[in-house]
Amino acid sequence: MTTSPSHQAADSSIVLTPLQRLTRFAQDMGTLTDRAVIAERILIELCDATDSQQGALYLLDREHDQYDCVMTVGSQNTSTAIASFASTHTLIQSLVHEHSMLLATENPPIKPELTDVLRTTHSSQAVALLNKGRLIAFALLAPGLGRPLDHADGRDFLLALAQSGANALDSILMNDDLHQSQTLMRRTDRLRSLETIAGGFAHEIRNPLTSIKTFIQLAPERKDDAEFIYDFSRIVLDDVHRIERLIQEILDYARYMEPKLTDEDLNEIVTSCLYFIEVKADSKRIKIEKELAPGLPRVMLDRQQIKQVLLNLLLNAIDAMGDGGGQLKVRTHRLVKPGAAAWTQIEIEDNGPGISKANLEHIFDPFFTTKHTSGEHAGTGLGLTIVHQIIQEHRGEIQVESTEGVGTTFSVNLPALPID
Ligand SMILES: Nc1ncnc2c1ncn2[C@@H]1O[C@H](COP(=O)(O)OP(=O)(O)O)[C@@H](O)[C@H]1O
Ligand SMILES: [Mg+2]
Repeated sequence: MTTSPSHQAADSSIVLTPLQRLTRFAQDMGTLTDRAVIAERILIELCDATDSQQGALYLLDREHDQYDCVMTVGSQNTSTAIASFASTHTLIQSLVHEHSMLLATENPPIKPELTDVLRTTHSSQAVALLNKGRLIAFALLAPGLGRPLDHADGRDFLLALAQSGANALDSILMNDDLHQSQTLMRRTDRLRSLETIAGGFAHEIRNPLTSIKTFIQLAPERKDDAEFIYDFSRIVLDDVHRIERLIQEILDYARYMEPKLTDEDLNEIVTSCLYFIEVKADSKRIKIEKELAPGLPRVMLDRQQIKQVLLNLLLNAIDAMGDGGGQLKVRTHRLVKPGAAAWTQIEIEDNGPGISKANLEHIFDPFFTTKHTSGEHAGTGLGLTIVHQIIQEHRGEIQVESTEGVGTTFSVNLPALPID
């Protein structure tokens, strides 16, 4: 990213004392959060402090153990002559171990290799941004036009700026690290549960496979027994359906997809899911009541995945209420949580038979199902496992409350976008 030092012009009309400048800079470092904006602010301040018209900022890339040029000011062809420095480079070693600031005009003279680097990058000084002895970033700056910086006060000022900038960049790097490891953990979680699922799958299909095999073995000698063939072929068909369903759900689950987050209106998603289940609910004499909060904050979510979650929960509720009719309540509202963040909540409440305490502990486990009836409608026990995984990947929460004989309420909480 390149910017022009003309940014300085706006500020230069107000003459601030070094202390005022340092304070203002430190305040900015404390409040800015965007990496590029911080990098630009640091570089412009360092250029300004050294009266330099051109400069480049190199930031640590821990993964590749190098420093990449992330920002330049002034004309493009200056410091970008080198796009990145390996951490073993003489310049880096020197900035870490010997000089937190390097001047081409240093006395005693700096090493010839360092002079070469400065010459290649058309710069005359390097300023290290160190935090706790670690080089977070450094700036290469073109020769200053006015103030020489080799006097003690100028140096101290520059080093104070560099320290403040280093703190800000270090916390950005830490944040990136945290984000990366969270993503990695979620992926590992999924792989681990996939392992459980694969094991469970083998177990789950053993029974239907046995019955299919038995049928095939017996069929030749019983081929004239119409009743046997009729009854057994229905059982076998159910078993085949069951295997197909299991395979489909496992494929859905295994296809790892990073949620594609878009800015969405939850009420609209809930409404479109209810539309899908209306006919089924009607046929079972289930009344749907919806209470959607107006002015709900918007949420960043993967539309398809959240629909999958809601449909799973709604269909479970319908299954639970059986054919005797019932009432399904769907509510959305803003969730008040301690802290500043806004959350939204969707509640799906049924007045079915409820879930026993013993079962409640297992409902999110892969293959846990109480729907053992044979036929196309038997459960796979993967619905809630998938629901749980998706909500986790949205950094949300899912809770369930159930009383036997009264009903069950599932609550899905999702972090919302701030309302502006
Ligand atoms: N609303 C509900 N009311 C009662 N029991 C429920 C409800 N939702 C889920 N369950 C229980 O949790 C089990 C697991 O659900 P799920 O993972 O969706 O698998 P499946 O629907 O295939 O059985 C169900 O078999 C059922 O026993
Ligand atoms: Mg289900």
